[in-house]
Amino acid sequence: MVTPNALPPDVLGKIRTSITERTGLNPQDWVLEARVQERMRERGVDQAHTYADLLGGRPELTALIELLRVGETRFYRHESQMRAVVELVMPALRRGVGPARLWSAGCATGEEAYTLAMLLSRGLDGHRSFKILASDISPASIERARAGIYREAAIGTLPHSYRTGFERSADGNFQVSPALRALVEFEERNLATGGYPGSFDLIFCRNVLIYFEESAKDAALRRLVKALKPGAFLFLGYSESLRDVAGLEVVSSDECTVYRRKMALDSAVNRPSTGVRVLMPTPLDSANTQPATSVLVALQGQYSNGQRLQSELDVAFRKATTHVVVDLDGADYLGQETADVLRNMREKAMLRGIALRWCATRAGHLRFLRRHNLSDGDKE
Ligand SMILES: C[S@@+](CC[C@H](N)C(=O)[O-])C[C@H]1O[C@@H](n2cnc3c(N)ncnc32)[C@H](O)[C@@H]1O
Repeated sequence: MVTPNALPPDVLGKIRTSITERTGLNPQDWVLEARVQERMRERGVDQAHTYADLLGGRPELTALIELLRVGETRFYRHESQMRAVVELVMPALRRGVGPARLWSAGCATGEEAYTLAMLLSRGLDGHRSFKILASDISPASIERARAGIYREAAIGTLPHSYRTGFERSADGNFQVSPALRALVEFEERNLATGGYPGSFDLIFCRNVLIYFEESAKDAALRRLVKALKPGAFLFLGYSESLRDVAGLEVVSSDECTVYRRKMALDSAVNRPSTGVRVLMPTPLDSANTQPATSVLVALQGQYSNGQRLQSELDVAFRKATTHVVVDLDGADYLGQETADVLRNMREKAMLRGIALRWCATRAGHLRFLRRHNLSDGDKE
């Protein structure tokens, strides 16, 4: 058996650079050395530089990453975050239009993604369809996640009412039900390289970036922010905290920190100047002569009198055939007359067979809606 000696620091440094560049991971020196020695023994290699050369090939790199990564996870991990999903995120998701998109980035063996599938199936309760992307750098984890088979002890961390989401598998374990599995799409994806998919309503990237080297973490965070829709939510690990990430704001929650992509950034970057955006033009079907079109009016800046809102709604109603949704959160100020416009336009919209709805999560805007008896604007 080959017993490698202590590794030369320059070779270990080269291996570290290679690992960090390709994965973002920043293992402690002793962990890196022990894992490299383990692989050298496995491969029958006794020279560190010979082993370093092997890392140019994908199979060896994958094998070493598999030893270096931390894959710990569990169902319903960090209960207070689960409560924040139900109490804070779910109402916003219910107000949205079109299928909701979620991403469990660094999903390990799938427990986190399936937990989200369970929470949303119950919380959205048919109000809105959704799809979850779940990804990890580890092919072995993704394979296990796809199978969705877990030991009885693993599902013990879920509240009792969610345990109905499993079926007994042939080997006596528990498999996530086909209906829940169909809601999650697993794929191998490296957060340190390659493109990120975009436009998510919620991203979980918990207990992943904590193992990243600082600049790799910053780069990943910037790309995560871009992958969020305006106003969409980001969860990091329970103990991970961020300071001043451009485009992110903290949404206070009693027991845990939840981040949210700012509206303001998007008003500059992504939104058309009118603030009116067609969301869902769907193709004509044989029974319909008009495509079903929902239009989002994303308010931005000052609405001191009703005129500005009125003209933006007029544009929206010319384009919409089914829904007009007004997102109030980007407005810095909502004057008294904007409430009158919302009330009047809702009545006019009903006559035209179009649903006018509005949504807000900012405390001041919620107070504004309550004060003007408009709090029911987010219900169908
Ligand atoms: C500690 S687990 C967290 C699992 C889950 N998010 C949770 O909190 O329960 C960290 C996961 O991040 C994955 N990971 C590490 N580096 C990654 C990278 N560069 N790209 C994608 N996933 C990565 C690991 O393979 C591991 O499965």
